Amino acid sequence: MAKPRISSIDGKLAEEFAVPSHVEEVKEKMAVFARHHAAADRRVVLITSGGTKVPLESRTVRFLDNFSSGRRGASSAEYFIESGYAVIFLYRHRSLYPYTRIFSNINMLDALKFSDGEGVSGNAEVVVNQQVLPNIAKALKRYQEMKEGKLLLPIEFSTLSEYLHLLKAAAQALSTIGSKAMFYLAAAVSDFYIPASEMPEHKIQSSNGPLQLSMNMVPKILSPLVKDWAPQAFVISFKLETDATILLDRARRALDTYRHQAVVANVLDSRRGYVVVVTPETQAELIITEEDVKNEVEIEERIVSNLTSAHNKFIT
Ligand code: PMT
Repeated sequence: MAKPRISSIDGKLAEEFAVPSHVEEVKEKMAVFARHHAAADRRVVLITSGGTKVPLESRTVRFLDNFSSGRRGASSAEYFIESGYAVIFLYRHRSLYPYTRIFSNINMLDALKFSDGEGVSGNAEVVVNQQVLPNIAKALKRYQEMKEGKLLLPIEFSTLSEYLHLLKAAAQALSTIGSKAMFYLAAAVSDFYIPASEMPEHKIQSSNGPLQLSMNMVPKILSPLVKDWAPQAFVISFKLETDATILLDRARRALDTYRHQAVVANVLDSRRGYVVVVTPETQAELIITEEDVKNEVEIEERIVSNLTSAHNKFIT
């Protein structure tokens, strides 16, 4: 019998990145979720969302973080569910979450009021202030439909090590459903880390003078994901740049290197109004106009619509 191929990245993952104790349990949960939905002829998307945290000490006081609010991942999860997908949501602890993201900029106490409108009074019922949360009924309805269909499986990560191991586990769990699986890798993942063997145990002391850091390169996880862990899946990576002039070149380079299906390219400052979906054959600009903003259209709705159509073609 042919032996499974063990890539050098697998070896590095096992040796230099602490394995989370619950990884096998989570893998089984994801596999059960994927099989259940695939049997009901539903596609499954794994969304990664939020930034990874890289500790500088093993008893961590300080860490490096990658920027991502989690908005892209959280809102995309809602649109995928609306499009008939089941979603595994691999997200950074405390980053934005599907449905409840609408509360992220409000003080919950401002969103409530007494029903008699007279302020603090004896037994008055507490109700939602519709002026503060005008869309709450719509959001609640969509949330309850999602719960009813058990369409969302949330999995949390904080550190880069957790992210890498959980992503690998997810890829292996989803490999059982072949091309019905989509990977939507919107998380902002660190390119640098300090191997466990070189990390100081205790808090780094400022009395030792200025801090000089030397960090290793994180292995590009897309490579084994596409080649070894989930070779039949539809894989989308994201490319974030701050310099718009190099964006498309980097996106094309990623496609050439990893041979996956699409890259969603965005620039930090304009990411909520403009992205380009790049595939080996096509390049689609998705834009949110001022009119769209007034109508509360989000760019993730367009991204998800573009990619679900591409996934259809990929499967057929
Ligand atoms: O969350 P928001 O505030 O809404 O912002 C959304 C976003 C800007 C974070 C999102 O749209 C985005 O662009 N995410 C990807 C950011 C990123 O890390 O890009 P990158 O160029 O460093 O990585 C490119 C791709 O390689 C990513 O899909 C990543 O999953 C993958 N990668 C990265 C590092 C690594 N070691 N292995 C990888 O496979």
